[in-house]
Amino acid sequence: SRVQQQQSLSGQRFGASPGSSRGSVKMATSTTDRQATPVPVAVPADAAAQQAEPANISYTPEWQALLEHRKEIEKTHLRDLLRKEDRSDALFHEYGGIVADFSRQRVTMKTIELLTQLANKAKLQEKIAGMFEGKHLNGTEDRAVLHVALRARRDQKIVVEGKDVVPEVWEVLDKIKGFSEKVRSGEWKGATGKAIKDVVAIGIGGSFLGPLFVHTALRTDQAAAHEAGGRQLRFLANVDPVDVARALNGLSQETTMVIVVSKTFTTAETMLNARTVRTWLVSELGPESVAKHMVAVSTNLKLVKEFGIDAENAFGFWDWVGGRYSVCSAVGVLPLALQYGWPVVERFLKGANDMDEHFRTAKFEENIPVWLGLTSVWNVSFLGYAARAILPYCQALSKLAPHIQQVSMESNGKGVDLSGRRLPFESGEIDFGEPGTNGQHSFYQLIHQGRVIPCEFIGTVKSQQSVYLKGEVVSNHDELMCNFFAQADALANGKTPVELRAENVPDHLIPHKTFTGNRPSVSILMPDLTAFSVGQLLAMYEHRVAVQGFIWGINSFDQWGVELGKVLAAKVRTNMNSARTVHRRIKQSDGFNHSTTRLLNRYLDGKTQ
Ligand code: F6P
Repeated sequence: SRVQQQQSLSGQRFGASPGSSRGSVKMATSTTDRQATPVPVAVPADAAAQQAEPANISYTPEWQALLEHRKEIEKTHLRDLLRKEDRSDALFHEYGGIVADFSRQRVTMKTIELLTQLANKAKLQEKIAGMFEGKHLNGTEDRAVLHVALRARRDQKIVVEGKDVVPEVWEVLDKIKGFSEKVRSGEWKGATGKAIKDVVAIGIGGSFLGPLFVHTALRTDQAAAHEAGGRQLRFLANVDPVDVARALNGLSQETTMVIVVSKTFTTAETMLNARTVRTWLVSELGPESVAKHMVAVSTNLKLVKEFGIDAENAFGFWDWVGGRYSVCSAVGVLPLALQYGWPVVERFLKGANDMDEHFRTAKFEENIPVWLGLTSVWNVSFLGYAARAILPYCQALSKLAPHIQQVSMESNGKGVDLSGRRLPFESGEIDFGEPGTNGQHSFYQLIHQGRVIPCEFIGTVKSQQSVYLKGEVVSNHDELMCNFFAQADALANGKTPVELRAENVPDHLIPHKTFTGNRPSVSILMPDLTAFSVGQLLAMYEHRVAVQGFIWGINSFDQWGVELGKVLAAKVRTNMNSARTVHRRIKQSDGFNHSTTRLLNRYLDGKTQ
């Protein structure tokens, strides 16, 4: 059965078998919520086993206390917990205009106390401080993790290995400001003397998703949209020729600027797309046009030069900025400044800095990213919920979930701890999401009556747009937000057979119309969606991910898991090239299994059926 399969998988993950020296694995099952995933409970067999794994947080008394506490929580239902007003008040947090309501998490004040003890055991405060101090928290790459320096105020100091990095950051920001002003004012001319109107940013992963998220959020903000005028900012990420066609469709080479965004400047997809778009430019405007129409953002300025982009037109950043944390570097700031102008970008950076300061200085009890991180750890590691839905009731946040998928899953989807030992639990969660109310008409059936998936509802008090229908009291925005409030309670309270009977629901439909409820969520209510609050939101999510990684004792800042596929793609590429060049078939002796050999040959034959 699925549960047996999961038990055996979980058992393997714990590296334990009956009688093993590591201890035994017991499955805890919920008595009140049959949807809850059984959670593997590690019980170290003896003190020696604990000694052997001193660094793993799951062998600490603090972790064990939470496992024990889970049994208490299993006896509760959110419907009852929500009746306690003191509890709701204590779980309602506010910072910088943002409200985060944790009352619909399956927690009591005892849970929070135990999670705080776990955070202390994991040295969370020291790790947060270490991040801001430029400690090399990314051990496998021996790098600091300093995206917070990208939005530091000019007067802040962040000293890394004896050097304050803030002036360097501002040097690049000032260069972007000057460059974007020249382009936007028309002082910068394209190869035929025309002003630049549109921008295509070529990049993938962290060199794409974060900037796309921010751009999508700002497009309909009235202040930002006003600054954009008729300009267009487009992104080209996928190597799929269809994406190339879509990105370039309708653009004129004469008025288009292309930004090649790649931290390494080696990413296969980005470099191929960069060459393709260079050909598109050069075929129309000649080779000299590159100097006027192509710029780059990278840490690898040597390769930028080799590609043919002048150092003057290159915007650098640093190895202490991880790709998925690079939105506030030139990766995001350059395209956004070209589109919206420097003042908008400055407000965005200020918003991110504001949340950084909150994260760095607020006590755990008041610290929103810390709360988000701790409750996520509780949901994943103790309640056994493997997924998380990000549900903005805000169309402008439609690219939040795709961005957070990378930030969260590339950061925390790890198999080993900081010192390389296999983790005795699963880290990270499966993030996905869609804006409400669209998602309601898509996958909400499952989250209401199928699997339990902790949800994150995000809404704004004010809309970016004021669309009022004359004579109607409830605006489009009110209607949207009615759903924001309703969904969280529907998940938490559910609907009982008793309630259904009172509504005269026929007996045969009662099981179908019953909602078990007790499904956790957090509600995040922002005052509005402006450049400033988008910055706050971005930083809040980045820090949530870091908190989880700090507790789990993993490296949230490397991404070795993406390498194997890249290596195998290179092998396929080499063989595909040679097969095409000398008209040969792919053979198993090329190093592919029977299945791949057959598929490759089918592809090369050009047959589809
Ligand atoms: O997908 C792996 C990855 O290395 C990401 O971490 C990164 O954001 C992306 O590729 C793009 O890398 P680059 O900016 O070097 O082109």
